[in-house]
Amino acid sequence: MVRRANNSRRQLKNPRSGGQKGGGLLTSTQFMMLTVGFGALFLALNIYHLMPAAGLVLNNNPVASTTTADEGESPPPGAAAQERKIQSVDSSVGALSSPLRGDGVQYHVVFSTGCSPKQNFQSYIFFFHAMKSQQPGKVTRIAACEGDTEADALRAHHKEFVEPMSPNFLLHITPDYSRIKKDGNTYHYFNKPFSTHHWMENALGYTPKHKNVGDNKHDNAIVILCDPDQVIMRPFTKNTFLNNSKVWMKRTTHPIIDHVDHGAPAGQLYGFQDQWKTKTNITRYVPKDELPSYVQTMSDAEMRENYAVGPPYMATAHDFYTIVTRWKDFVPLVHDDYPHLLAEMFGYCLAAAHSRLPHQVAKGFMISDVASFGNEGWPMMEKYTVRDVCTPGAIAPQDTPNILHYCQRYTLGKFVIGKHRIPLTFLGCEDPLLTEPPPDIGERFNFFFEPDRKEEVKKNLPQPVIKPNAYMLCHLIPYLNEAATYWKDHHCEGKTPNKEKTLKWFDNMEVAPHFFEDN
Ligand SMILES: *[C@@H]1O[C@H](CO)[C@@H](O)[C@H](O)[C@H]1NC(C)=O
Ligand SMILES: *[C@@H]1O[C@H](CO)[C@@H](O)[C@H](O)[C@H]1NC(C)=O
Repeated sequence: MVRRANNSRRQLKNPRSGGQKGGGLLTSTQFMMLTVGFGALFLALNIYHLMPAAGLVLNNNPVASTTTADEGESPPPGAAAQERKIQSVDSSVGALSSPLRGDGVQYHVVFSTGCSPKQNFQSYIFFFHAMKSQQPGKVTRIAACEGDTEADALRAHHKEFVEPMSPNFLLHITPDYSRIKKDGNTYHYFNKPFSTHHWMENALGYTPKHKNVGDNKHDNAIVILCDPDQVIMRPFTKNTFLNNSKVWMKRTTHPIIDHVDHGAPAGQLYGFQDQWKTKTNITRYVPKDELPSYVQTMSDAEMRENYAVGPPYMATAHDFYTIVTRWKDFVPLVHDDYPHLLAEMFGYCLAAAHSRLPHQVAKGFMISDVASFGNEGWPMMEKYTVRDVCTPGAIAPQDTPNILHYCQRYTLGKFVIGKHRIPLTFLGCEDPLLTEPPPDIGERFNFFFEPDRKEEVKKNLPQPVIKPNAYMLCHLIPYLNEAATYWKDHHCEGKTPNKEKTLKWFDNMEVAPHFFEDN
């Protein structure tokens, strides 16, 4: 049976790329000043108006106490409470040690996961490729754990398998937030905003008191929030982006600067267009004295060009704290109105928009969906042939999107890869490596076979998705094999690790000649 990654974020097709003129009333400097001002105002409002909303101590994990308001309780809509641990973490508050650009930039790459051993696989792959791509900065797995036993097991795993790769690879344990709603259901994706918020407060020492840039010594750090099923192919460095029209979505409302700055975060375009606004109801999520929200008053161009983003999200730590604080407040309420997978992502967009933090929207940070040509980094590789994308070293670094997001099934001929296919024992001594595709795979096939069938069922593929499928197969399979090989080289002492490349989904990988005839 085909599992089309139904719990992952598929790119939706055909985003409207912003073409309409509008907005542009403020210079970027004015805009940034406003942004900082509003950010501070919102935080202040939070403190003074939401304090009473504390309710429901929900975690059974001693790492932190966390409160939240339930949507059915008395606090005003949007007042999902804050964790109000006012703590003085740092004596050097006010001293911004890091520059915003150049070699000294402090990066925090983070990704949010659950705590079960099942999630160690993707996390290991993530860490391995952060190491291999030489991503600067700290890389932190933020893991939501249900209790001490689970947390201790994960700590031990991290120490044994991840820490030896780099002292910059960290683990941050938070409570599990997947059951914060009282309806008895579990929503794993609540963990992303809540855990990231927990990390900012507990690892970076953010508190609601930190309103102005400089109040926390990490304010100039750049936070990059990724998904765990992403692989960094080209690292983010020096806080400087490619200035290339294939990388960015057209924008009329604000300039695209070539870096992240205070008031100028960035994110990858996702194809959900304006649904983050139209499928939700911001008036329920914010305190009444913050209405009307900017989400309601912004122009259409402003709405279209700046907020339809997803991971990797990138912002200065100062801005990220503003966003993530709102994001976690909004998300349970967004989920009431829109009880679907994307609620969590819409919550981010609303948080950014309500905080007036328009994002520079990149198409080229990521590739994931072979059919999502206009939304992703595929056009960066337009000039390369279907053979080039399977030839190691053929694609220049500046034509390579930063991230490969393996949230779908990729297939050509009898080669197929998808994250749900990989056995959990893949990182082990006994399991074989994956069978790698030949470099001419994209030239040979414009069809694939359905895996897991008794009969050979051939399906044709439309021409535009052949090269992307070839790219994915020729990169992702070796990426997984490299990580597994590294694992075997370091953890199979006294055993003979299996490095045969025999893991595949068809016993006979040969394709009979008659299948080529009708093409
Ligand atoms: C990016 O490139 C465009 C045109 O190629 C140029 O007008 C713009 O100034 C550049 N931006 C930066 C920040 O270098
Ligand atoms: C949005 O929420 C407000 C306040 O709860 C409510 O009055 C309004 O009818 C809602 N709008 C929609 C379209 O559901």
